[in-house]
This record gives sequence, C-alpha cells and structure tokens, in this order.
Amino acid sequence: MIRILAWLLISLSFAAQVQAKGPELTKDTFAVIHSRKSVRSFTGAPISRENLEKIVRAGMAAPTAVNKQPWSFVVVTEKKTINTLAAGLPTARGIEKAGAVIIVCAEPEKAHMQSKDLAVVDASLASENILLATEALGLGGHWTASFPYEDKMKHVRAVLGIPANIIPLNVILVGVPTGEDKPKDKYQKDKIHWGKW
Ligand SMILES: Cc1cc2nc3c(=O)[nH]c(=O)nc-3n(C[C@H](O)[C@H](O)[C@H](O)COP(=O)(O)O)c2cc1C
Repeated sequence: MIRILAWLLISLSFAAQVQAKGPELTKDTFAVIHSRKSVRSFTGAPISRENLEKIVRAGMAAPTAVNKQPWSFVVVTEKKTINTLAAGLPTARGIEKAGAVIIVCAEPEKAHMQSKDLAVVDASLASENILLATEALGLGGHWTASFPYEDKMKHVRAVLGIPANIIPLNVILVGVPTGEDKPKDKYQKDKIHWGKW
C-alpha cells in the first residue's frame, strides 16, 4: 500500500512538472526572438552538417500560401565557393569568416497562382525561421541581399548553377559569433494602432 501511494505521488509530481513546461517553452521562444540580431562578426569556425540540417528544417516549417512551399535551399560550406560568392556581394559583411551560407531560393512557378510576390513572401518567412533557428542553436546569422538586385542575383545564380527562373532571395551567413553583435530594441509603442489606424 505504501509503495502504491509513493508511486502515485511520484507520478503526480512528474505530471505537474510536465504541465509547468508550457510557460517555460513560451519564455524560451520569446528569448530567442528578442536575442536574434544580424551577426557580422564570426570566429571562422565551421558549422556541423547536423546543425545546418536543423536550421534548414526550421526554414521549411514556415507557413506558405496554400501550403505550396515554393522554395529550395542551397547550403554551401566550401570556403572556395563562399569566397567566389563574396566577390560579387559587397554588402555581405563578415562573409569571409562565415562557417556556411544558405541561399533561400523562391520558386514562382511553384507558388500559389504562380505569383512571384507570394513566392518571395513565402521564402522570406522561411528565411526568418532560419535566422531564429540559428540564434536558438547559439550560432550567428545574417540576411545579406540578393533579391531584388539584378547584378547580385545574376552573380549568385552563376556561381551556384541556379536556373534563371529561380530567385535567389538572399545569402544568409551562418557562423560562430564572436559576441560583438548585440540585439537592438526596436519596440515602438506608437507603431501599434489599436482598433483602427
Ligand atoms: C531584405 C534584407 C536585406 C538585407 N541586406 C543586408 C546586406 O546586404 N548587408 C547587411 O549587412 N545587412 C543586410 N540586412 C540586415 C539588416 O541590415 C538588419 O536586419 C537590420 O539592420 C536590423 O538589424 P538586426 O537584424 O540586427 O535586427 C538585410 C536585411 C533584410 C531583411
């Protein structure tokens, strides 16, 4: 009898702990969102394939119009290719020490209504998930421009063999942060219109 009571007590306390996880998880999510920042200062250390897969998987968890998932991802870790990319991307600050770069590609032909706009929106949502997942893993990430600049898109397509009908939306740098980059507080109360504009 005492054993049964003890077992019951242990089970109940375990259930209570599981229940208490709810708010804890919510807090973690907010902590990741608010600590994300553009990281441009990397140590130069490599990024494991396992982490890169986790990051891209998070990208693919993003919502898309009519669930069309009109995207592809090019993941590059080879230094030589990263340096070739860097030569045509003057605004990709810190790229020389990134451990990897991820090019999020929008595919208008696969988007709802074959809409280029929707493809870009969908791929942008995947990109933000990628940046958040990078932060959650204790790594640093940074969206650098490709779309809508014709010269940059042309360069990225040429280096990586991306077909002309695919939009290389960005070149996301992923690396081990030096700790130099800090998040900005962008909250502005007057940007919120409650009820009506
Ligand atoms: C569409 C887009 C293009 C961007 N292009 C570049 C870029 O080429 N180079 C760069 O250093 N940062 C680029 N950024 C990063 C922004 O500069 C950065 O997000 C902004 O300054 C806010 O800082 P935070 O990301 O640390 O919050 C880009 C961001 C977006 C969304």
